Amino acid sequence: MQRVLSGIQPSGQLTLGNYIGAIQNFVKLQHTHECFFMVVDLHAITVPQDPAALREQSEAVAAIYLAAGIDPNKANVFIQSHVPQHAELGWLFTTLAYMGELERMTQFKDKSQGKDSVGAGLFVYPTLMAADILLYNAHLVPVGDDQKQHLELTRDLAGRFNSRFSDYFNIPEPYIPKVGARIMSLDDASKKMSKSNPNPASYIALLDPPDVIRKKLSRATTDSGREVKFNPAEKPEVSNLMGIYSHCAGMSLEEIEAKYEGQGYGAFKKDLAEHVVATLEPLQQRYQEIRSSGAVHDILKQGAERVTETASKTVRDVKERMGFLLPR
Ligand code: TYM
Repeated sequence: MQRVLSGIQPSGQLTLGNYIGAIQNFVKLQHTHECFFMVVDLHAITVPQDPAALREQSEAVAAIYLAAGIDPNKANVFIQSHVPQHAELGWLFTTLAYMGELERMTQFKDKSQGKDSVGAGLFVYPTLMAADILLYNAHLVPVGDDQKQHLELTRDLAGRFNSRFSDYFNIPEPYIPKVGARIMSLDDASKKMSKSNPNPASYIALLDPPDVIRKKLSRATTDSGREVKFNPAEKPEVSNLMGIYSHCAGMSLEEIEAKYEGQGYGAFKKDLAEHVVATLEPLQQRYQEIRSSGAVHDILKQGAERVTETASKTVRDVKERMGFLLPR
């Protein structure tokens, strides 16, 4: 069975962008693939985190996975730092990567722009991500559009290892949704919807109460004109909202255009809010149940236990091929 791996950083409230770009596909792929879904806490600390918030968010992300429909009996759900081989293989890959290729990473450029001091962890972030994926020799990596470049680097590092030492790693493929790979901010469609945006009106958090969702969507920026038409170049704001609509209502973009022909933005935005609320309400309910049951900790413990054998075998094989003297 082919393997799927992905992860989300516990670095703020998860958004509808994370859900549409990534989590929806996690839920789908668990039925056909052997899956590994992580909470990537080691990645989160590449920018400063408040310790109490990091702990809370790590549990929250795991609970959101489960609430969204990931079945821990089908998929391995775990915390990255519970499997120390991630950090170990991350270091080995850091030694294979070139400064030049890390400097070209747009996420690094964006996150470091204008900062006086930039953490070294932020710079080597993609080598740890490569380790995450290759530790389980994943075939497919469901992510949003912003992770494409990191995936390309992962493929390069896997190929480099294979040609320098011996053919060991499978070259993983990204799995990116056709619509919704890049959900944009509600206040500015030139920026991606992000959990780290200081303005909460710019994103829908998965745990936003229904009335907050309705308010945020009614205030979402729309383009001039009044036609509900999908045209990202000329109507970026409405096209973004249509992408969200399409995912939450299960309707194609053409069906949405036809439904609102001649009606203007008002009715469209009102219905959009109801579709988003209907999508998130059951998730929110399950989230509360899961958090109050306290079951998350056991599930995470089992998840880490189940994947550790594969992870330690990979690290051992890699070290052997790189010429480490292994303990006997
Ligand atoms: P992170 O935590 O920033 O985002 C988690 C996932 O959500 C997707 N995403 C979006 N998709 C569509 N529209 C948006 N506005 C949007 N915002 C976020 C991201 O593309 C991602 O798929 N480096 C990764 C975490 C990671 C990882 C990995 C992913 C660490 N190791 C191994 C895959 C495999 C990250 O920062 O995601």
